[in-house]
Amino acid sequence: MTDHLPFGEVRNPRFFGQDILSVSQFDRSDLENLFGVAHEMYGMVQRVGTFDLLKGKVLTNLFYEPSTRTSSSFVAAIERLGGSVVQINNVTYSSVSKGETLEDTVRTMEQYTDAVVLRHPEKGAAARAAAAAVKPVINAGDGPGEHPTQALLDAYTIKEEMGRFDGLTVTMLGDLKYGRTVHSLAKLLTLFDVKINYVSPEILQMPQDFMDAVAEKGIPQHATTDLDEVLPETDVLYVTRIQKERFENPSEYDEVKDSYVITPDVMKGAKSDMAVMHPLPRVGEISTDFDTDPRAAYFRQMEYGMYVRMALLALVLGRA
Ligand code: ASP
Ligand code: CP
Repeated sequence: MTDHLPFGEVRNPRFFGQDILSVSQFDRSDLENLFGVAHEMYGMVQRVGTFDLLKGKVLTNLFYEPSTRTSSSFVAAIERLGGSVVQINNVTYSSVSKGETLEDTVRTMEQYTDAVVLRHPEKGAAARAAAAAVKPVINAGDGPGEHPTQALLDAYTIKEEMGRFDGLTVTMLGDLKYGRTVHSLAKLLTLFDVKINYVSPEILQMPQDFMDAVAEKGIPQHATTDLDEVLPETDVLYVTRIQKERFENPSEYDEVKDSYVITPDVMKGAKSDMAVMHPLPRVGEISTDFDTDPRAAYFRQMEYGMYVRMALLALVLGRA
């Protein structure tokens, strides 16, 4: 159908019209393509701010859970590309509170818009929504499952900050059981020649199924409760929040909530050329005293996220 595309429009079949549900759907060349477009988006935003690549396209942001970054960066991304967004950020004021199912809600929104970005508290919800919908569904976090667009921006951040993936040691710290960002990132990093360390309280270890998926790809992994053991070899320290909202027993949360705190003093034990990342929000696991350290990459990480989401929307909606 390429003949009928407007001048300059090239569609990448790996992205165009596709649901974005899990990082498992990507290979190394998909990342190269996406990151190339993200880099162009960065340049365009610096030069002109907004442009009309997705003029006429309308996105749904359907969020059943709180969000600042994912929701806002998708809004900024589509608007910078000349498109617009229908936001349902508080489902209690939608017909969800009358008992409408996820499937019917998504099928409603696809009548009005060109793609649906969905965040939901249940693992597998994005896949369910995608099965009901014809138009693309983008998983913006499905409970303790995955957060694939976060992993894409995390990988882009690693590339921008460290200049490479191969040979890096990435240490994931905090809530590895419920933290969906680390689930996606660990799987995505298997596309590269990395070593992954997991540092967490005993009760919040990386789930076995994710570790098995990483092991299958031959990636070395090491789990410990002791950050000091692995900090000196770490090139990327990926810190996460303990996911309070996923605990059934509040006293268990209280036991582990202050397990690790990154401070300038702790970071004396790390390399000088490394990056500290965090998907955010943080609730005390990185001290604000560390924010001015050049290794603190978490604010830059958010900005990269907008370019990556611009690139993803452009590719999924067919104009990159
Ligand atoms: N914002 C990320 C997520 O929604 C991480 C977090 O909430 O701790 O998964
Ligand atoms: N990183 C992330 O998903 O942030 P929000 O929960 O604020 O969207």
